[in-house]
Amino acid sequence: MDVGLGALGEQGMTDAIGLHGAPGASCPSFYLSFAELPPSEFMQVADSTWLVLSVVSNGRAPSGCQATGVTKIARSVIAPLAEHHVSVLMLSTYQTDFILVRERDLPVVIHTLAGEFDIYKEEGGECVPVTCDDVSNGFLKPKPGDPTLHPVQSPQTRFCVLTVAPDTLPAIATMLIDVLFYSHRFPSDLLLTSSTGELWRMVRIGGQPLGFDECGIVAQIAEPLAAADISAYYISTFNFDHALVPEEGIAEVIQLLQQRQESSR
Ligand code: ARG
Repeated sequence: MDVGLGALGEQGMTDAIGLHGAPGASCPSFYLSFAELPPSEFMQVADSTWLVLSVVSNGRAPSGCQATGVTKIARSVIAPLAEHHVSVLMLSTYQTDFILVRERDLPVVIHTLAGEFDIYKEEGGECVPVTCDDVSNGFLKPKPGDPTLHPVQSPQTRFCVLTVAPDTLPAIATMLIDVLFYSHRFPSDLLLTSSTGELWRMVRIGGQPLGFDECGIVAQIAEPLAAADISAYYISTFNFDHALVPEEGIAEVIQLLQQRQESSR
């Protein structure tokens, strides 16, 4: 499925959600890669299966809307899911934002998003519409109380967001790892970045490992950023979440997120 709500300048309202199942998913193929890893005592596997959602823009652009990444889907996807107590994991890439939800939360996810989106499921490479009736036995979870506010920190490091064409990946993977870990120079002919060459700063969210169960963490960061129209890439890892924001916006972002902490006291 071709997805398009990324950082490549495609502007528009978001109005379709694609659902990629775990085994056999073509995009991204976390599950398949994982299944190939040798078993190890150092690796722990969480018991739930997470499904991947991606949002496709239909191109009906409200003009002047420059926001990209997680900011674009903050109000339409992230906030409603948090309100319905659905825990998500976010993974922004250069091309799109992936929202991972637990398979067992699917009924409430579909129920929550069906009002604003057309929802499709990827089945054997085809996109099949999903309707609310398919999941009619879903229950709505109670609304959570006040969410825990997690502290944020921002290192001085500046980040450049790059993309690799998927078909070149097998040929350059080893070199890429080499360059990432052992060198300071990127092979500029293989990695594409935006023509404006902007740099990003990172905000790390969480003072202690966040775990998978809590919901509303992405929302508490994405919503103030969306309100201020600040683009962001967002990456959840096991321990912490990370938001990349444009370098020139970092001071405003830190101020906004600090205010969030003060106003809740
Ligand atoms: N589940 C959180 C949410 O719904 C985001 C992920 C936080 N957990 C983590 N391990 N990074 O907002």
